[in-house]
Amino acid sequence: MDKTRRTILVTSALPYANGSIHLGHLVEYIQTDIWVRFQKMRGHDCVYVCADDAHGTPIMLRAQQEGINPEALIAAMHEEHQADFTDFLIEFDNYHTTHSPENRSLSEQIYSALQDAGHITTRKITQAYDPEQEMFLPDRFIRGTCPRCGTADQYGDSCESCGATYSPTELKDAVSVVSGARPIERESLHYFFRLADFEPMLREWTTAGHLQAEVAHKLDEWFEQGLREWDISRDAPYFGFRIPGTDDKYFYVWLDAPIGYMASFRNLCERSGRDFDTWWKADSETELYHFIGKDIIYFHALFWPAMLSGAGFRTPTAVYSHGFLTVDGQKMSKSRGTFIKARTYLQHLDPEYLRYYFAAKLGDGIDDLDLNLEDFIARVNSDLVGKVVNIASRCAGFLSKRFEGRLSSICTIPGLYREFTDAGADIAGHYEAREYGHAIRMIMALADQANQYIDEGKPWVLAKEAGREQEVQDICSAGLNLFRVLIAYLKPVLPATAEKAEAFLNIEPLSWDAVETPLEDHAIRKFKPLMTRVEKEKIDAMLEDSREHLETDNRAVGKPAMEPLAETISFDEFSKVDLRIARIAQAESVEGADKLLRLTLDLGGETRTVFAGIKSAYRPEDLVGRLTVLVANLAPRKMRFGISEGMVLAAGPGKEDLWILQPDDGAQPGMRVK
Ligand code: 2FM
Ligand code: ZN
Repeated sequence: MDKTRRTILVTSALPYANGSIHLGHLVEYIQTDIWVRFQKMRGHDCVYVCADDAHGTPIMLRAQQEGINPEALIAAMHEEHQADFTDFLIEFDNYHTTHSPENRSLSEQIYSALQDAGHITTRKITQAYDPEQEMFLPDRFIRGTCPRCGTADQYGDSCESCGATYSPTELKDAVSVVSGARPIERESLHYFFRLADFEPMLREWTTAGHLQAEVAHKLDEWFEQGLREWDISRDAPYFGFRIPGTDDKYFYVWLDAPIGYMASFRNLCERSGRDFDTWWKADSETELYHFIGKDIIYFHALFWPAMLSGAGFRTPTAVYSHGFLTVDGQKMSKSRGTFIKARTYLQHLDPEYLRYYFAAKLGDGIDDLDLNLEDFIARVNSDLVGKVVNIASRCAGFLSKRFEGRLSSICTIPGLYREFTDAGADIAGHYEAREYGHAIRMIMALADQANQYIDEGKPWVLAKEAGREQEVQDICSAGLNLFRVLIAYLKPVLPATAEKAEAFLNIEPLSWDAVETPLEDHAIRKFKPLMTRVEKEKIDAMLEDSREHLETDNRAVGKPAMEPLAETISFDEFSKVDLRIARIAQAESVEGADKLLRLTLDLGGETRTVFAGIKSAYRPEDLVGRLTVLVANLAPRKMRFGISEGMVLAAGPGKEDLWILQPDDGAQPGMRVK
């Protein structure tokens, strides 16, 4: 192990102050927090700062909508975010905001330095402008019909249906999302950062080991395309910092956001007596790491190092990107209830389950990470509860009941114990390299060995035999010593469990090296369960709660509660559905089923029996003779009352508000609906 004490500053991306933290965000905060806790356990001087990203149009507009000023909105979000992070055991050394005096002064300083060095230029550009709201409109605040495929209600910059990208002026029937007015074009003076001035510096920096290989590769493409000037100004009204020397121009939120890392650190310096310049001067010997999502690489791997170097500051030691979160293999979705807010999770489940699960699946790359809920239950229950915690609960009882909670005066398994401590170097290597999945696999293999040792020793059998007390004490003491090593290795991931285990073992907070020697002739405290099993019901309840959010939000803004739209499917997937006109030849109630009608459908040559859950809306006799639409190629389904050979299409929220599809006159049974 490297014994030199490192000085390390670590950041996670700053979350926007207009939305709640959700599980997607937490991949990053958990990844970073584990790394920081690991560094601290190793004895390094590691500082972890973050902040709310408080500026920009969306925040300004949301405050307006809520009838409060932006300061009040960001203050409330700051509280909410901090509480969520604390409860997920994310331990920042400072959690600040970009709307702070430190950030204003650093942003002005960096901007002025870049300007003095000739890296800022101005020119007039034409943009969409909302004449009613009297503001320029970011692309996301304009909607209209895609100029390529004609899909309605698309954003001002890209079409979600065909993937086209365009400028908002090309959009057909464009409207401002803010006022509903038709945007007009308007000119204004903008300030640009001349990124291309830094091309030589960036080409060198991006290939000097500061980025993951796959990220560096992506940057090559961007260099190929040429480094364009970056528009760093926005016109009033805007919630942000005014650009020095102007009346109505503001720094674009993305200019002052990364400077927020420095500002948060400076704020910490003012409170803790650290020296800001030691960490940020151009030739600083300290290390600086940014953990980010792969969607914001451009900002962190190009703009940010260029800004820092142009303004005479140090550049990052490394930028570590990660992938996105999927849940059960799909994008998080409000309709499936898998768009889970941090707080909703916490209302049902222990944060350490998620920390463990993410750790077990995290590597050093930018692949997406899947939260598979079945696997989540299985892993937490079998690894943490079944393997790790189990070691302590198997050994603790014997020691407290028979030996007054005293461990043997000598650890009788020096070889095995040594194997455990020797593994520490490799496990540490994996943590350092952000290969947490590898670390966890090694730790669980050790846990298996510890359990096997206890299984073979059978203290519960020996305890019943006369004269074998010493063996019982030795086995249980050894078991607890192995447990202690495992807890040390898991502590970056499971800080709360580690703390409980430290209390039970009656030891000082574990550092990485503390387990080099075993506990001997040592008194432990009474064992209390360290962790309980994940229950599927709790997961179901969490999903159910998450599903409700959208409806609640809709009601809050006075819209009818519409069920959220499902994930998009391709045309090819949709065209597999064979829809046919069918005549309802017979309709009857089904005995014992209060929702179902048994329909006999005539497809013009073929007859089908279908059970349809429409009894709440129709009397059987009213249906006979009517035409409707049948999903004709749905696999037959065995129901309690017989086999249903297809499905009749109906729409509506349910009960009496349910309508079967009714084709116009002229439709004939058996016709395909296209
Ligand atoms: O993408 C985002 O959510 C931004 N708020 C991240 C900012 S990171 C840093 F640059 F401030
Ligand atoms: Zn389109």
